[in-house]
Amino acid sequence: MGPTPLSGETPLLILGIETSCDDTGLALYHSTRGVLAQNLSSHPEHHAIYGGIVPELASRDHIRHIMPLLRNLFQKANCSLAQVHCVAYTRGPGLAGTLLVGAAVASGLAWALRCPCYGLHHLEAHLLLPFLYTNQLECPFVALLVSGGHTELLRVPAIGQYEILGATRDDAAGEAFDKIAQLLTLGCPGGPAIAAKAREGRALPVPFPRPLLPGFDFSFSGLKTAVRVRIEQQTLRTADVAYEAQEAITDVLVYKATQALQKTGYHTLVVAGGVSANERLRQKLAQLCEPKQHRVYYAPTPLCTDNGVMVAFATALKLSSGNGLLTDRGDIRPHWPLTDLHH
Ligand code: KG4
Ligand code: ZN
Repeated sequence: MGPTPLSGETPLLILGIETSCDDTGLALYHSTRGVLAQNLSSHPEHHAIYGGIVPELASRDHIRHIMPLLRNLFQKANCSLAQVHCVAYTRGPGLAGTLLVGAAVASGLAWALRCPCYGLHHLEAHLLLPFLYTNQLECPFVALLVSGGHTELLRVPAIGQYEILGATRDDAAGEAFDKIAQLLTLGCPGGPAIAAKAREGRALPVPFPRPLLPGFDFSFSGLKTAVRVRIEQQTLRTADVAYEAQEAITDVLVYKATQALQKTGYHTLVVAGGVSANERLRQKLAQLCEPKQHRVYYAPTPLCTDNGVMVAFATALKLSSGNGLLTDRGDIRPHWPLTDLHH
């Protein structure tokens, strides 16, 4: 006999598992008591010499750490595995090998517990997390999803309905931060490293280009090349290059996001994904949106990057809102468009 289907009306304890890239993220979320515990582990030092995440090394780290992290999670929450009502994991998009670790652990646990096992969309989990921290946020809204692998502007009329207004044609915003940080030998992940260095920097006499494609699409690969050419040709202070690069990336994101608010006529913007932790981005959005009475919502900074809380919470929200279909096939979808949630 299969597991009993869950309804959003009874209190639920949800175990969330995130392994789409190099972070092993676990969380226990209770639908009435909130986040009971979370664990996060990553090993950037294993990837540093290669200049980016090596999928096979990330998969091995997940395998090594996921079970000890799980045991520790239940200890911290002071509850037992038997109390879990459903297991949720990241089904995609992400690295096939790392996703498989999460899917296998989630399916195994759910099978042992005879409970449902739901496969979540990574970007949907990012963009629903701000709902956990406010009861003011309501649909419809525009979402700016800015992570290491994705840059997308979406129209969100309701939870589970996502219409893509624009996306990157090449590098994602986080990828641009990471690649420019690599050029400046600032380490990985590049976003926080550039943001820290930029605090000591000032504007260059000749700014970097602001790549603006027509409509809502983005392109960041030319900016990376412009930075490379400029630092090869001129002696520039690293802090000033970091400052200018951050200005260029955030200017483009802010311009497109505010244009999307104007086009849709919506007054609410949700910014999610690792780059939404960027303070300069938040500052610029506040400056532009506050006078127009637009509201901007984020997850708390430490939860902007990948974590297990977003997977567990998005599951709870989808169950309770009733309009979020959840898949329970136990499989993975490394390439999974947000507009194709039902397959
Ligand atoms: O969402 P995330 O953890 O992983 C993906 O789903 O890709 O995003 C990671 C990305 C990295 O590219 C990282 O450099 C960037 O988010 N990031 C930041 C900041 N913190 C993380 N970028 C700019 N400023 C930050 N403070
Ligand atoms: Zn992410």
